[in-house]
Amino acid sequence: MKPFRYVAVLGLAAVGAYFASQQMISAAPPAKPLSSFDPQAKALLAQMTLDEKIGQMTQPDQESIKDLSDIERYFVGSILSGGSSDPKEGNSLQAWTDLYDRLQQHTTLTRLKIPILYGIDAVHGHNNILGAVIFPHNIGLGCTRNPALVEKVERVTAEEVRATGIQWAFAPCVTVPQDIRWGRTYEGFSEDPAVVKELAGPAVRGFQGTDLASPLSVLACAKHYIGDGGTSFGSTRRGQGLDQGDTRVDEATLRRIHLQGYISAVREGAASIMPSYSSWNGVKVSGDKHLLTEILKQELGFQGFLISDYNAIDQINPNYKTAIGISINAGMDMAMVPARYKEYIADLKQLVEEGVVPMARIDDAVVRILRVKFAMGMLDTKRSQLADRTLQKSFGSPEHRAVARQAVRESLVLLKNQNKVLPLKKTAARIHVGGKSADDLGNQCGGWTIDWQGKSGEVTPGGTTVLAAIKKAVSGKTEVTFSKDGTGAAGATLGVVVIGEKPYAEGNGDRADLKVAQEDVDAVANMKSAGIPVVVILFSGRPMILGTVLDQADAVVAAWLPGTEGAGITDVLFGDFKPKGKLSYAWPRSMEQVAKHPGDKDYAPLFPLGYGLTF
Ligand code: BGC
Repeated sequence: MKPFRYVAVLGLAAVGAYFASQQMISAAPPAKPLSSFDPQAKALLAQMTLDEKIGQMTQPDQESIKDLSDIERYFVGSILSGGSSDPKEGNSLQAWTDLYDRLQQHTTLTRLKIPILYGIDAVHGHNNILGAVIFPHNIGLGCTRNPALVEKVERVTAEEVRATGIQWAFAPCVTVPQDIRWGRTYEGFSEDPAVVKELAGPAVRGFQGTDLASPLSVLACAKHYIGDGGTSFGSTRRGQGLDQGDTRVDEATLRRIHLQGYISAVREGAASIMPSYSSWNGVKVSGDKHLLTEILKQELGFQGFLISDYNAIDQINPNYKTAIGISINAGMDMAMVPARYKEYIADLKQLVEEGVVPMARIDDAVVRILRVKFAMGMLDTKRSQLADRTLQKSFGSPEHRAVARQAVRESLVLLKNQNKVLPLKKTAARIHVGGKSADDLGNQCGGWTIDWQGKSGEVTPGGTTVLAAIKKAVSGKTEVTFSKDGTGAAGATLGVVVIGEKPYAEGNGDRADLKVAQEDVDAVANMKSAGIPVVVILFSGRPMILGTVLDQADAVVAAWLPGTEGAGITDVLFGDFKPKGKLSYAWPRSMEQVAKHPGDKDYAPLFPLGYGLTF
């Protein structure tokens, strides 16, 4: 559990045909409008009591449901696993699937038998489950500038999610981070709204497919609406950092920068959206009717439902009941109330009885949720809502890993390549590998990997570190040696040093200083002191201030947080593929340059947006 302070199978032929042609993927027709399910949704609504309706609007965390009969007692419509909320039997594919089935079975004990939507943060693959393929975080996908690839990545993610029964991913994150000191920078494709707009739609299509009713489709959730990436440094409740802070811009700017991803996500039929914890000019987005109802639902024509962020409603007003009223009346349809679900349910019922929340608002919220459930085939009585375990055959499979490997190699941005040190020769006599992240899958994957914050070390089975990938790529005669601190390189033909950030998520990654750590600077210097060409690979959730590392390195590759498939890096290092990633964030020269954008005074990035060398 997160600390409170932050706050039926498609035939193989169909799957094969899908992978066969990227062209076909992108040419897919837009999904059926959700409102076409209104007749069924309204007929069901007409049979529901107020308690049953409020139940549909409630999402507890599985970990907090101590007595599973609460599911039928409160007619719970949705459940989540927040970061690190694993099955109590442990973290395995079977335990996750059993958990989903167990909870789903409880809904059959209710009068109307409306199944639950189970939500999880599948933000770079099905990243909570041991053995899942972990894809590059969005910052890397943004550097690929490849919409068909992004769609393919989310299609594979959807398939791994469905293998556990789960039908809802809290993704894609379509934030447009404007200040790389933010700990969620890596969750955004780009600082450039045009890039986010271009990739948001394909990401949604990857999750939802062309038909939400397909057993391989997963409900997408574009997040965090709106302006989560535009907060001012120091504007948070704690007075530090950026996460969950205040975005201080006029409406034209808010729309120009932060609305763009939602325009393409909604056009693509994104059926859920998560409002942000953050505020816009001092008002919490999760309680702002203009943003939630007028712009998103009325102007953009969003027909799906809004799910509040984890305990986000609590931040709207010190009085919980007042906060609930403000949020629901502003247009929130379902509340992520991990532990406080009983209180939320009782308060919302009272608010309706007191006339503070109109029945029409409740009905609108429930119709929006039921539309999605009908569209997903969840109310088709002929169809089992239990997990389809035959999908587990491809969970973490070589085919899925191949897609991630492609995403890794296309995401790499070559920043420097002096004297054409890259590509390396597979026949080099000896390669000395160094750096704390060369043999550290956890650092390679970053936050939101198995644990909410991620962790250094052997975070999940089945992945390939850079060291392992180099050993595999080189000729039989090449010797590969390794030392974390880069010492012992004398006599080697060349050195590869893998450095960067250690895992973090959300506000825990807010930083005032983005200098590369001293141990990393030292590892590069140690390697260089052997007098050999040095290639630096940087794992980071954002551009970093490179300092002497840039001078000492002969080649520098920004690899972002690439995930489990380290062979995508050696594909490029050894020249099997040319580097083609383009920066999706400008690379600052110094901290003074951070949060500056084209047109700002003194804007002079070290490497501009779109920069990226090739061989
Ligand atoms: C994050 C969301 C996430 C949710 C559920 C929140 O802390 O802001 O991005 O979807 O938790 O885990």
